[in-house]
Amino acid sequence: MKRSGLHPYRQRSLTGEAAGAHVDEAPDADEFLSDVLRGLSARRKTLPCKYFYDAEGSRLFDEICELDEYYVTRTEVGILEANVAEMAELLGDRCLLFEYGSGSSVKTRLLLDQLESPAGYVPIDISCDHLLATADDLRRAYPEIPILPICSDYTSAVTLPPAAAFARNRALFFPGSTLGNFAPDESIDFLTRMASLVGPGGLVLIGEDLQKDVQVLLDAYDDADGVTAAFNLNLLSRINQELGGNFRLDRFSHEARWNEKRARVEMHLRSEVDQVVQVAGRAFRFVPGETIWTESSHKFTPEAFAATAKKAGFCVDRIWTDSKRYFSIQLLRAVTDGADPEA
Ligand code: AVJ
Repeated sequence: MKRSGLHPYRQRSLTGEAAGAHVDEAPDADEFLSDVLRGLSARRKTLPCKYFYDAEGSRLFDEICELDEYYVTRTEVGILEANVAEMAELLGDRCLLFEYGSGSSVKTRLLLDQLESPAGYVPIDISCDHLLATADDLRRAYPEIPILPICSDYTSAVTLPPAAAFARNRALFFPGSTLGNFAPDESIDFLTRMASLVGPGGLVLIGEDLQKDVQVLLDAYDDADGVTAAFNLNLLSRINQELGGNFRLDRFSHEARWNEKRARVEMHLRSEVDQVVQVAGRAFRFVPGETIWTESSHKFTPEAFAATAKKAGFCVDRIWTDSKRYFSIQLLRAVTDGADPEA
């Protein structure tokens, strides 16, 4: 690929040269600081789960995916492996494939192996260095596919790359049950943005975790080896390192809760003692037992998910699941460009 002056899809700042060119709009330190201060100032203290994934957090998450208790990743990969030929067929030829939160693009390789003459692959991730290293690996493995990384918080708007003009259809791959992290109204907004990204007739291939036995769920988010606990607590280390915080990790403990009413697993960090923590010169008081709510992982029924998708302008074309019905991969088709007017 030749560098053709400035990329038309340049957004905030463009780094990298020629084949390494990418769009960089990762959230900066100021945004991290203001999100943390806002979260810790709330009556119910909270921190956004998107900040779990610094280098150490990403490493811990990879370790979570290997745990016996964390059925999510292996079940989803099993569904993908068993059905990827059919999925690729339904996505069709010359498709421009986007992916939000692409990480190492491990699952995507299964699709890239099967897609017929894709117009390009656009991985979008906030971990810029990791994204670019992965893009280089993918260029070597798939020299015929234009690899067009965008370093971004995927909740921000995405501008179509020039390759979109050559695509027969646009599709978005969103595995990993990440939508589960969003509150219900946020997931409708986010799905609505996906609908406008892929356009009318465009497709979304999305992994959604399903409701199941509560103990299975709790074990998946509070494993015996304490890897999930370390993952949760790492957010406090990150605040200490990057924002000059003085959280004492031995005074907080990891907690996973099932919220029956809202059908979600919640992760919290519970203060074991009465304490005051400083972040960037601001003081935050914790009473014993008070928690910082760090993540929600909503669990769907196929019916509930179809209703959510419909409100965002999608219909569900196809559902694949595993023998235990633990997880689902769903193919959504954008019927309109935007939300369902009747919703
Ligand atoms: C990456 C959002 C799918 O909610 O299951 C894993 C993150 N949190 N263990 C999930 C996570 C605790 C995960 N997702």
